[in-house]
Amino acid sequence: MRGIILSGGSGTRLRPLTKITSKQLLPIYNRPMIYYPLNTLIKAGIKEILIIVSPERAGDYLNLLGSGRQFGVKFTYEIQDKPEGLAQAFIIGENFIDDENVAMVLGDNIFADDFSKDINNFKSGAKIFAKKVSDPKRFGVVKFDENMKAQEIVEKPQEYLSDYAVTGLYIYDSKVVDIAKNLKPSDRGELEITDINNHYLKNDKLSVAKVEGEWLDAGTFDSLFTAQKLAKEKLNDKLVI
Ligand code: DAU
Repeated sequence: MRGIILSGGSGTRLRPLTKITSKQLLPIYNRPMIYYPLNTLIKAGIKEILIIVSPERAGDYLNLLGSGRQFGVKFTYEIQDKPEGLAQAFIIGENFIDDENVAMVLGDNIFADDFSKDINNFKSGAKIFAKKVSDPKRFGVVKFDENMKAQEIVEKPQEYLSDYAVTGLYIYDSKVVDIAKNLKPSDRGELEITDINNHYLKNDKLSVAKVEGEWLDAGTFDSLFTAQKLAKEKLNDKLVI
């Protein structure tokens, strides 16, 4: 299994904090934000990790994270010229993924759960992770039937669909590269990861697990604030880096 951390974007929602640095390098208690999703991958035993960054901040990432040797892993870096969607990561990462399975985590997503089993037992298809939230409109949302089988996934639904948000950890087989290459940009001009998930869902190849522990997308001022507390009180002694 290869790992990808998607850590580009312009962080406009967090201005002025992100005027001179990347959102995913902001401090969360005693570590830069990206350490938390990196932990999620490294704890699961992933040794080869592609870090996708914006051109403006690439030097900062290299200075902070280097080769990965100090964490016992190998980092590769790629530039995403413009934030044209989460699904673009699999086009940028085509050579890196090669014929392997891949777990991608968003650079601003902080999980308390340990996903080692999900990552190590994954064979093929796709696996995503959902969490009940109070503000589903902010996220990709998954609707389940009475047997908790996923029926439909909608990106930021305007009408109420379900309380389950799709979190920013995704596991795919290497077919994801071709699926991403065949996507059309959405109305907001992005290649949507939700379209990839719906592709697997339609082919009956998507499984959706629930996130048991805390999960945060630290992309707003309030969630950034909550993340500080979560990191100090619940995560600090569980981290491997
Ligand atoms: O956090 C989970 C949510 O992430 C999912 O529920 C949604 O389905 C998914 O679309 C995504 O929604 P967001 O609105 O949070 O996406 P955002 O544009 O904020 O991007 C998420 C992270 O990925 C952020 O840290 C910036 C980075 N990013 C984003 C884009 C669009 C990139 O590195 N490149 C990009 O092209």
